[in-house]
Amino acid sequence: MLTSHHITSEQCIGCGLCVRICPSQALSLTEDGKAEVSGECAFACGHCAAVCPEEAIKVTSLDNDSLEFSTFQPDGRWLPPGETDIAGLVRLMRSRRSIRMYQDRPVAHDLLLDLVKIGTTAPSGTNSQRWTFTIIPDRQSMVKFGHLVAAFYRKLNRLAARSWLRKLLKLGGFGELDSYYREYYQNIQEGLDAWEKDGTDRLFHGAPAAILVGARPGASCPQEDALLASGNILLAAHSMGLGTCLIGFAVEAMKRDKSIGGKLGIPRDEKIYAVIAIGYPAVAFQRPAGRKESIVRTFSLPSRKTKT
Ligand SMILES: Cc1cc2nc3c(=O)[nH]c(=O)nc-3n(C[C@H](O)[C@H](O)[C@H](O)COP(=O)(O)O)c2cc1C
Repeated sequence: MLTSHHITSEQCIGCGLCVRICPSQALSLTEDGKAEVSGECAFACGHCAAVCPEEAIKVTSLDNDSLEFSTFQPDGRWLPPGETDIAGLVRLMRSRRSIRMYQDRPVAHDLLLDLVKIGTTAPSGTNSQRWTFTIIPDRQSMVKFGHLVAAFYRKLNRLAARSWLRKLLKLGGFGELDSYYREYYQNIQEGLDAWEKDGTDRLFHGAPAAILVGARPGASCPQEDALLASGNILLAAHSMGLGTCLIGFAVEAMKRDKSIGGKLGIPRDEKIYAVIAIGYPAVAFQRPAGRKESIVRTFSLPSRKTKT
């Protein structure tokens, strides 16, 4: 990626900050004390440009439009560690809840596009940023998506209802269908019946929009990248007055039946890791919920006794 850096020598003061911060050791100082690209830039992370006090470096492969939003004015300045309101941040994190009741109100497309941009501020393995975002922008399209997922579960439930098949597969070492039958069959069947009877949507909870977060081939950590981007979207949506719910049932259906993605315009080689239902909440909480106790451990070497 040698060509993606543009260094204006006249502006470079030779402080060496870019050289020290580059994770690829791709920069060095020339004999006359100017920064130059001397190695392979593996990440195009832009740290060199961000740290330069003279704005002497541009990483041309990075898209500056990604810093622009259309529904709010961002504060473009870098926020130093310790200079944000931790109490406010934790309040936001604890107040985000999975929303399963939505108002009959559409979500503006610009808001969904801004949420996607916010998603892309997440870290990604080797900075590959090979995530993809598929917006389902309105209720009508959500219903179509719902039909596709329902068709998958209808087929699966028909198979799972055959006890001989479950037993046979289990005997052959494939116990998945049997586990599905015991854990999910009944619940899913009730959801499918309600969907067919009067359109009750237990899958997306009636949400008017969704963002599907996936990854193109070639990412070193595609699932982690997609889920980190999703985490940003969940928190940002709450800040924007929206509610969200991750829909694992839809992710599972899309993983097992690639034709669902195909019908939504998603290329076959992309994988979807998160389906985020989005809409204006029709519920308000009185307080945040607690969390179960976590396992937390600390590893440290025993301190050495000093010889006296
Ligand atoms: C990977 C994942 C998949 C989920 N899938 C569903 C789902 O299919 N339907 C649903 O209603 N909630 C789903 N949830 C939401 C969880 O049930 C929810 O996060 C959990 O109960 C904690 O509640 P909270 O999000 O309000 O804090 C999912 C959450 C995660 C992290």
